[in-house]
Amino acid sequence: MKKGLGKTTHHKACVKMLPTFVRATPDGTEKGDFLALDLGGTNFRVLHVQVKEQKVVKMDSQSCAIPQEIMVGPGKQLFDHIAACLSKFLDTQNLKGKTLPLGFTFSFPCEQKEIDKSILIRWTKGFNCSGVEGKDVVKLLKMAIQRRGDFNIDSVAMVNDTVGTMMSCGYPDSNCEIGMIIGTGTNACYMEDIKNVQRVVGEDGQMCINTEWGGFGDDNALNDILTEIDFEVDRTSINPGVHTFEKMISGMYLGDIVCLMLKKLAEEKLLFKGQVSDALRTPGKFETKFLSDIEKPRSGLENAKRILNSLDLKWDLTDLHVVQLVCDTISKRSADLCAACLATLANRIRTNRGLEKLKTTVGVDGTVYRKHPNFSTKLEERVKELAPQCEISFLISEDGSGKGAAMVTAVAQRLARQSRLLDSDDDGDNS
Ligand code: BGC
Repeated sequence: MKKGLGKTTHHKACVKMLPTFVRATPDGTEKGDFLALDLGGTNFRVLHVQVKEQKVVKMDSQSCAIPQEIMVGPGKQLFDHIAACLSKFLDTQNLKGKTLPLGFTFSFPCEQKEIDKSILIRWTKGFNCSGVEGKDVVKLLKMAIQRRGDFNIDSVAMVNDTVGTMMSCGYPDSNCEIGMIIGTGTNACYMEDIKNVQRVVGEDGQMCINTEWGGFGDDNALNDILTEIDFEVDRTSINPGVHTFEKMISGMYLGDIVCLMLKKLAEEKLLFKGQVSDALRTPGKFETKFLSDIEKPRSGLENAKRILNSLDLKWDLTDLHVVQLVCDTISKRSADLCAACLATLANRIRTNRGLEKLKTTVGVDGTVYRKHPNFSTKLEERVKELAPQCEISFLISEDGSGKGAAMVTAVAQRLARQSRLLDSDDDGDNS
């Protein structure tokens, strides 16, 4: 983390610690109508959101599928697709005539130069569109909108999903200073003292930092704890060599890790009487949601039978228990690793403020955290153990990527309004 924040060490850091230009959490005076886009999770979504009287209300939203060939095709095609979905949504909402500000939740590592200038460092998860890495995503979106010419947007705020998640929890809990995602991918952000963010000018106040903790280990720092299966998952992924930590943790990979482990146990004649089915040899066949089904307290064994049957595996009762143990081991490892990083973040906030004890809240979202039967308990217990001086509460974000993006846009507008007011006060003083 220190490397990522440092002026001269940043370029070598694999935990990038990216400035987000979000300098404040909501104060309750934000208001207005906003559009939000959400790209990078399970679905692509367009939303119309209203912020008023300390509430963020989703007026309407639409999910658009992104076909696999667009996810790995030319970038221009991706942005044209996004602009087309937005256009269709504005039609159905009768909003084409209005020029609304837009919050864009773009859940990939970006070097943000300003709130509305965001350079994609690299694609992660299932995306790999050509011609986008190294480019300003806001520009690419605006160019696609211009190519259509049938609608316009006002100012744009770029938001990582962790930031949206943190911000969307800011009204119910003003202590919320950390945002965490454990879903298809994993990542966290937190409020850092600006004086520690050496790449940003300024001494006073705070800025939200997108840690991009998924990249931890890309410098081989985790090699001691990576297994042969982790190396195999990385090797067969669409982005080998990067996002090492994410590949041990997030929903995109947990199913494949379990699958490879079951295959290895079967090959060593420790499972399924030594038989391996074609399904077990095929990446993606053992879905991450199977871990949740198999670990369910009451229905777990029955679910394991159904799933193993669907994968053409012949099992006995001992096999079922071993499969349960494998799932539990892998999800527990994921929770432990997240807990270690979360404890580090909380302790950093505590020491930044010179506090003996810190009370803070983590806004959290993501399919693994939400849907797995005991992932959240495993994680929360481990964090308590690893950060005994921090009292951490967890708040599940309600639509962080949608409402949170609107919230970031609203806070950015409030700050701009306030600084305009200050400017005009200064003018007044001078005259
Ligand atoms: C991306 C992050 C994102 C996380 C969760 C990772 O692959 O690099 O930017 O926050 O997934 O969606």
